[in-house]
Amino acid sequence: MKYTIVFFITIFLFSGVSAQSKKEIALKTKINNILSKMTLKEKIEMLHGNALFSSGGVPRLDIPELTCDDGPLGVREEIKRFDWNSANWTTDSATFLPNGSAIAATWNPVMANKYGVVIGEEANARKKNVMLAPAFNICRMPLCGRTYEYYSEDPYLNSQLAIQSVKGIQSQHVAACIKHFAANNQELNRDSVNTLVDERALREIYFPAFKAAVQQGNAYTVMSAYNKVNGYWCSENDFLLNKVLKNEWGFKGVVISDWGGVHHTVAAANSGLDIEMGSSGPYEQWYFAKPLLEAVKSGQVSVKTIDGKVKRILWLMYHTSMSANHPNGSIATPAHAKTAYAIASESIVLLKNDAHLLPLKVGNIKSIAVIGDNATRTFASGGHGAGVKAKYEITALEGIKSRFGKTAEIKFAQGYKANYSASKTDVQNAGSDQPDQSLINEAVALAKTTDIAILCIGSNREYESEGHDRKNLGLPFGEQALVNAVTAANPNTIIVIMAGAPYDLNEIRKSNHTIVWAWFNGSEGGSALADVLKGVVNPSGRLPFTFPVSLKDSPASALNTYPGNNMTADYKEGILVGYRWYDTKNINPLYCFGYGLSYTNFTYTGLATNKKTYSPGDKIMVSLKIKNSGSFAGKEVVQLYVCKMNSIVLRPEKELKAFKKIMVAPAETAAVSMNIDVNDLAYFDSKLRKWIVEPGQYKILAASSSKDIRQMTSFHISR
Ligand code: BGC
Repeated sequence: MKYTIVFFITIFLFSGVSAQSKKEIALKTKINNILSKMTLKEKIEMLHGNALFSSGGVPRLDIPELTCDDGPLGVREEIKRFDWNSANWTTDSATFLPNGSAIAATWNPVMANKYGVVIGEEANARKKNVMLAPAFNICRMPLCGRTYEYYSEDPYLNSQLAIQSVKGIQSQHVAACIKHFAANNQELNRDSVNTLVDERALREIYFPAFKAAVQQGNAYTVMSAYNKVNGYWCSENDFLLNKVLKNEWGFKGVVISDWGGVHHTVAAANSGLDIEMGSSGPYEQWYFAKPLLEAVKSGQVSVKTIDGKVKRILWLMYHTSMSANHPNGSIATPAHAKTAYAIASESIVLLKNDAHLLPLKVGNIKSIAVIGDNATRTFASGGHGAGVKAKYEITALEGIKSRFGKTAEIKFAQGYKANYSASKTDVQNAGSDQPDQSLINEAVALAKTTDIAILCIGSNREYESEGHDRKNLGLPFGEQALVNAVTAANPNTIIVIMAGAPYDLNEIRKSNHTIVWAWFNGSEGGSALADVLKGVVNPSGRLPFTFPVSLKDSPASALNTYPGNNMTADYKEGILVGYRWYDTKNINPLYCFGYGLSYTNFTYTGLATNKKTYSPGDKIMVSLKIKNSGSFAGKEVVQLYVCKMNSIVLRPEKELKAFKKIMVAPAETAAVSMNIDVNDLAYFDSKLRKWIVEPGQYKILAASSSKDIRQMTSFHISR
């Protein structure tokens, strides 16, 4: 009987594999057949932009253009074919999804997948084949203007989210374009800086999410970054594109340049770039247009190389625009709004609740002062980064009114002026950090009359923007003065911060008892926030990056490697990025990686591994129990960190190797199990140029944040 079952399973598996490979072989034949009918000129038409967001097709052979659009916050509004102005469509209002660091703060790959599905469905409704998302460059340096777009400082958290958002997008036959490959970690000088980074740091910190998104997420496209890595532009970096991405990781898809990120024809063509994209024409003059045709004719680029690129593009098309059963998609639906809400409500991080003011006890509250520009501001667009023409966006004030307005009087005061524009010069923006005393007086007068004051501060999409980095970690717009004044006027002041990157919260942390972090949280951001304040949602967001006490504590500042000298940013900290740096150097952060409170408490017991000794290739099965010892149902993010004892090489004090978000009912205990592959504990030996699983003793830490270790056990890896 047993053998019969095994026999049938084997037949089933093999027939499955062969059906799949038969399909791939058939596709290969089809692609080769099309290629044989194409002229060199037609092939080259497919390798460069023919408008802002499309590259050429071959009408004679019914090959359509390849269309793309930005992400990551949602499908960007339709712009004109040849300039960045709105096309003034009435059918492109979309769902605004929470920003990247908000998604990362959910610590929930299921949310990343849901995000992807919405992006894919909306892209289809707009007939976009490639979505320029997700973006997950490592948050190396807290000032980076695109931190809000990216996920995390940790490669493992990054990877788990990247895999799922790619899978979600591509489940709709839309290509994800993972970006920006690689080591594009600052906006200042982004299109000229040469990033010097050792191979170990690339492999252990900057590559993992790209590798995972390619190998486990099967990402169809990759965007090369603007900067240079170790002396070569990312768009013509043979090591990055040919050796690592295509040959080593087996990437089958298409490498697309960042917009205007190509510098040479021959070097880019021979180093693995497939499509040149950019902003303005004349398109036939671009590196991958006429000059490429000439380079082929003069023998500097082979026809085989060109064919390779065209084959990749056709392969991509057969998985997207020309795929069978291509879905029609849908845009800004109630179901999409539900996803935006779900992500937002899992992303909000409760930083402090010392007075147990939250959740607000609705019956006792007769009046609420909602104060601050961010209470009425929307975040779907602004600055230089891609935005969304949101069908709607619930502001904090609207959310609070809808959840508390029936039982309490809600009044608003502006509190501060957000006088900063990403398109203005520093001189024009001067003074935007100054408080406005008359607005503060008005806010104080209001706060004195209400039971509760909710201060909505932070930054906005102008202040955090693509194309520039922040100058410092300070809260903008004189917000601290407003916080001090309102806190003195009303003992029940709640600080809500909407921003996408670390800020200096030293004073607030010292002087305020209630602090909530709420991101640029999408179409339903205000509803999710109000539900957290009300206790309809128990906060379960955890910080995806460290908030340092001071900028000078952070690695790039401490080592004086930002923004770099002579256009060279030397990543001297190597693998010690984020908490790996702070932990290893014994520097206390203000808020650590993985931090976030709940309205309940969780107790950890019974941490165990299934064996005491493992070998390379084994799986470590880790189990523990989590009890909800409070009275609120809630989700805990169980974090597993691993640490090599007495390593022969420099290793971070600990590294995240697994995590799981679980819901536990009050007084219930949940059994949690997670697996860690022994091979994932390897370090990269830059001299030998290979991964080494070091034998010896390891510690495994079960933690509620990177600094809140609840349980510890150890295991051994044998040779
Ligand atoms: C950004 C990309 C974006 C592209 C197209 C570039 O400036 O770096 O992330 O996808 O523009 O808008």
